[in-house]
Amino acid sequence: MVDLHSHVLFEIDDGAQSIEASVEILKRAIDAKINKMMATPHFSIGDDVDIFLDRRNRRLEALRAALKEQEMDICLKGGAEVYITDEIFNEDKLDKLTMEGSNIMLTEFKYHSLKPETFLDYVDEIQKNGIRVLVAHPERYSYLMANPRLLEALLNREALLQVNAISLFEEGEEGEFARFLVKNELAHVIGSDIHHPGSRRLKAMKKLGESDTAYIVRALNDVPDKIFEGVF
Ligand SMILES: [Fe+2]
Repeated sequence: MVDLHSHVLFEIDDGAQSIEASVEILKRAIDAKINKMMATPHFSIGDDVDIFLDRRNRRLEALRAALKEQEMDICLKGGAEVYITDEIFNEDKLDKLTMEGSNIMLTEFKYHSLKPETFLDYVDEIQKNGIRVLVAHPERYSYLMANPRLLEALLNREALLQVNAISLFEEGEEGEFARFLVKNELAHVIGSDIHHPGSRRLKAMKKLGESDTAYIVRALNDVPDKIFEGVF
């Protein structure tokens, strides 16, 4: 299984706070049968791209060394979860924040009250630079839930959608929308968005990984693997 959304790197965002926590997350990921993980720490406006990437890459290297030492078999690559606002477009190095070896960027938007036209403008603005948008947890965006036309417009633009595994087990609107997206094969990818070792998010991945339903297998393995390998 391939997980394209994780906060596994330590001391870089609100995810793992120590290398021990990172290793513990990876142990649980391996137990869930995840063999490839994209590290996607939060990148927000005000962060400097080069400083962010330097720190991310140093964390990646340290973690890879720990994996080797402990003979843990999981492949790690670097990306970012980029919070999209008007200001982000002042940044001329956005293309450096795509997933390692691909032109795909994991993006996060305001959860509430973002105008549909603004959302689409953002996607157009990013994609005109040759970057493809992978929308993180679309099930959280109330304005998307309420607006099938926006969803259609997004998919027409070939934006990709990444649903959080845990959302598929949740009650309420968010869970319902997540299940709707996955069952109708509108979501391309299911990922964990893991932040902490004790969280249920990897358990949700593990449970889904036991499914042989074609659209689940595709969203957990086939599509994310192609993205991870840069051949999507
Ligand atoms: Fe995230």
